[in-house]
Amino acid sequence: MENLIIINASPRAPQSNSKEYSEIFIKYSKLETKYFELNKRNQNELIYKMENFSQALFVFPLYVDCLPASFLDFLKILEKSSTEHKPIISVLINCGFIEVYQNDIAVEILKLFCNQTGYKFGSVLKIGSGEAILGTPFKKLVDRKIKQLANSIYTKQYKTLDVSMILPKKIYLKKSTEYWVKYGQKYNILKQEMETMKIE
Ligand SMILES: Cc1cc2nc3c(=O)[nH]c(=O)nc-3n(C[C@H](O)[C@H](O)[C@H](O)COP(=O)(O)O)c2cc1C
Repeated sequence: MENLIIINASPRAPQSNSKEYSEIFIKYSKLETKYFELNKRNQNELIYKMENFSQALFVFPLYVDCLPASFLDFLKILEKSSTEHKPIISVLINCGFIEVYQNDIAVEILKLFCNQTGYKFGSVLKIGSGEAILGTPFKKLVDRKIKQLANSIYTKQYKTLDVSMILPKKIYLKKSTEYWVKYGQKYNILKQEMETMKIE
């Protein structure tokens, strides 16, 4: 029977946007779908679980134009593991910037990973303005695209989809800067401090 495993590979999985995107996906998925959050302790367990699924969906954020380091670690272990059954891998990636193309390199990295390790690659949904979009009227666009993603995996008509807020870049930058400055104020952090490497 066809089924699907979602792996949320956000480093802040329990409080992540990736979690919210996964929940929307689950709402639309017609396959038996199970959701898991990747962490430092369950990498091998998740790899073992993947063997029992025909489809896998990796949901994760863009970090520094790449995959989060913890997700790369997971892929390194997956690469070395001698799994017999390999699910078809699809991707739902979101990034903070408004341009969906920011996600392209990360998607290419995953495609290459699949190519080199014998996994079939399925569908992709690239989300821009991923930190903000769910709290705006553009959420319905995300909903629609995630539904299309779920249907493409179900019907095996794999495709690449994308969605972002339909706003001029200047307005997005202005609004997002205002948002983060306000957010910093809640924790007594100044804009100038946020602009330094010491913020971590
Ligand atoms: C360490 C770090 C690096 C990031 N790098 C990028 C980046 O290179 N490009 C981008 O558009 N967004 C970047 N972001 C923003 C995240 O992709 C965005 O906030 C996303 O919604 C987080 O998803 P999550 O809640 O599922 O983890 C970065 C965020 C963090 C914390």
